[in-house]
Amino acid sequence: MMRVVVLISGRGSNLQALIDAWQSGGFSIVGVVSNNANAAGLQFAAGAGITTAAVPHLDHVDREGFERALIKVIDRWQPDLIVLAGFMRILTGKFVGHYAGRMINIHPSLLPDFPGLNTHERALQAAVQWHGASVHYVTDELDGGPVISQTRMSIEVDDQAKDLAARLLPREHRLLAATVTEIARGSIGLKNGRVILNGEYLEKPLVFD
Ligand code: GRF
Repeated sequence: MMRVVVLISGRGSNLQALIDAWQSGGFSIVGVVSNNANAAGLQFAAGAGITTAAVPHLDHVDREGFERALIKVIDRWQPDLIVLAGFMRILTGKFVGHYAGRMINIHPSLLPDFPGLNTHERALQAAVQWHGASVHYVTDELDGGPVISQTRMSIEVDDQAKDLAARLLPREHRLLAATVTEIARGSIGLKNGRVILNGEYLEKPLVFD
């Protein structure tokens, strides 16, 4: 059974989607950790019987100290996969390197478009027709690692950022659950910095709509 640790900062609805999927998905969530002790996701994860921990970044003088504490907590759970699900801290190359090839992130845009924050606003400003979310392996580059999978939706006339966010969120949930399930099956991996599916390089992201 693939051992998954989920990192969150707040609401945790993507974490909830993984909790809903884990029984049929062939993976086990062995820990949830947040940089925010008040994150709602910590409460319901604990309610679901999952071990949780808070590692407040403000308790540490620098990013390195925070990350050392985080690694200590995470490695105790011996994870095969780390999932960043709404984890809102920038990670150093050292942290990323420690989990190279076994850490993924969900990002609310069709990467490589709109890395970083305010993706819905920026998609509207750019007047693109398509928007969506991506799951990618985490590398040193912010939201820049190899993309595994995406979900796409069209932008409608009169859409505002909040409409896009609301319409995208359930799609994010399905995307993340489906992607983690696929990784648990052993069909997805990383080789030479590229995503492989059943041993072959993936030419374009998998689509889970
Ligand atoms: C999601 O939109 C995710 O893509 C982004 O942050 C949000 C987290 O939502 N990185 P939640 O905490 O999972 O509800």
